[in-house]
Amino acid sequence: MAAKAILSGDLTIVHEGESLRLIQVTDTHLTGNSDGCLLGMNTERSARAIITAALSTERADCVLVTGDIAADGESGAYQQLETLLGSRVPSMWLPGNHDCVVGRLDPYPDYLKRRLRGKHWDVVMLETQVEGEVGGVLSVAELDALAQAVNDAVTSDKALLVATHHPLRAMRSAWLDEQSVKNAADALALLEALSERTAIISGHVHQESDVVVKNVRMMTTPSTCVQFAPESEDFALDDKDPGYRRIVLGPDAQLDTQVVRISDDSNRPLLTSSGYD
Ligand SMILES: [Fe+2]
Repeated sequence: MAAKAILSGDLTIVHEGESLRLIQVTDTHLTGNSDGCLLGMNTERSARAIITAALSTERADCVLVTGDIAADGESGAYQQLETLLGSRVPSMWLPGNHDCVVGRLDPYPDYLKRRLRGKHWDVVMLETQVEGEVGGVLSVAELDALAQAVNDAVTSDKALLVATHHPLRAMRSAWLDEQSVKNAADALALLEALSERTAIISGHVHQESDVVVKNVRMMTTPSTCVQFAPESEDFALDDKDPGYRRIVLGPDAQLDTQVVRISDDSNRPLLTSSGYD
């Protein structure tokens, strides 16, 4: 289990109109250096291209950053992300397995919020990272936070968007499925109280997906850098462009979403790479 829950409190925003408009950015794998690369791809340059495109084209109320902010817990990565995001649109971050929470992320409490409350939807951020491990687990504290968020959503007749790093389902990809949240069933049991008025967005798997499992819509989103090949037994890269996810949350549990990819032919990974590290 993670040493302690670092997500707490609410991000207070007032969104115009009926819909809450979000951008999901995930798996930036920043190194703290402008020349840092992952598998041959410059991660600051790709994150900048994605974030700049998202913020300049979307009318967003908030950016959700779903983990692996750093490539290997580098302290400079969090400052890098803060700079890339700027201050015009608020953001909420949660850690992934490549992040180092203690001493690295905890100087950024303003971004480590548990909840965002909208008119028709709430958002709850859940930490699935286990210090020193690649795979994910929801601790008792995280499940308690989810139970509270579900209860509040039911009471206030809202829908609930859950954001995690590790997905809560298998991706039909053996090497990645060893890393999905081990006790996902506990979370899905809590979400049953919302019937179909809930959805989950995750990162970690560096690929787009959008399926319904047990009445819950589950989405994953491309990394801002390298992409993994879907349904691959072993580690394999994909040649798809990096991107972000646009999410519009409206009345009556309406969820409209698209992945937007951004191409940069001069900054691509080495597709023959045989491993992640
Ligand atoms: Fe990642």
